[in-house]
Amino acid sequence: MAPIISVQNLTKTYSNGFEALKGINLDVEKGEILALLGPNGAGKTTLISIICGIANPSGGRVLVAGHDVVKDFRATRGMIGLVPQELTTDQFETVFNTVSFSRGLHGKKSNPAHIEKVLRALSLWDKKDNMLRQLSGGMKRRVLIAKALSHEPDILFLDEPTAGVDVTLRKDMWHVVEELRASGVTIILTTHYIEEAEEIADRVGVINGGELLLVEDKAALMAKLGRKQLILDLTEPLRRLPDCFSGNGLTLEADGNRLTYDFDAGNEQESIAALLTRLGENNIHFKDLSTRQSSLEDIFVALVGADK
Ligand SMILES: Nc1ncnc2c1ncn2[C@@H]1O[C@H](COP(=O)(O)OP(=O)(O)OP(=O)(O)O)[C@@H](O)[C@H]1O
Ligand SMILES: [Mg+2]
Repeated sequence: MAPIISVQNLTKTYSNGFEALKGINLDVEKGEILALLGPNGAGKTTLISIICGIANPSGGRVLVAGHDVVKDFRATRGMIGLVPQELTTDQFETVFNTVSFSRGLHGKKSNPAHIEKVLRALSLWDKKDNMLRQLSGGMKRRVLIAKALSHEPDILFLDEPTAGVDVTLRKDMWHVVEELRASGVTIILTTHYIEEAEEIADRVGVINGGELLLVEDKAALMAKLGRKQLILDLTEPLRRLPDCFSGNGLTLEADGNRLTYDFDAGNEQESIAALLTRLGENNIHFKDLSTRQSSLEDIFVALVGADK
């Protein structure tokens, strides 16, 4: 199946000469949740703005459901819902009217039942008659999400959707996102909460300095880069590792006082037991033992840090 979004050699140089995107290639399949991770200024919002057709590319192109987002803006914009990073809403309008009006802007017929469903799902129904200026910051962010869902988009962009939203509501929002995905909506989100990506994404993309460093299935990424490590603090420092241990993931560290062992998640029990026995046979004893598993956060920091 053709990807629903295809980003091809996309570059963006802002008018002041700043190169914000340096040749991005990315395909997104229908119905997946892709999380884009990257430090401040990486180019996430720039990329999303171009896909949504609200900023122009300098080079390359973006197809949404086969339509060029620049040449065929009307066709693609109607399919897309965008939750922008910045809060920009009319402070004197009510929640219900704001969301309902947004549906009209996308050329869809008024549908109060749909608006009610969206507001209820986002725990905003009891605030429907409040003016936006009467809402808290987290509530305003949820209104932005309601606006983006008002016209039943096929593709939803969430640029930092849960910044400033409390933990409980954040989890509610993940639930809303899951339900949207179940109904066939494709979702691209950016986040600085790595546990958010870990929790809800199917694939993770890491962007830094205008370049896409990787895009991978989350589970595969965790399996490939998410190392597990056993740490043994030795009773006596070791000058060198006996030859029989070379090349099996064992490293001598901290002036010979510590051994670290990288092991596979699959056969951990066996291989550790075997290793400990073999260490004992070689008169290597330890006073403390701990394990460490790298998270998506470690992987992210390693990737982005290495690039600096
Ligand atoms: N209108 C503009 N003119 C010039 N430079 C810009 C403009 N908009 C963004 N930039 C620059 O482009 C780079 C990427 O910005 P962008 O907003 O895409 O980053 P981001 O990954 O979304 O960051 P954050 O996590 O902080 O939201 C930054 O260095 C930013 O200063
Ligand atoms: Mg941004």
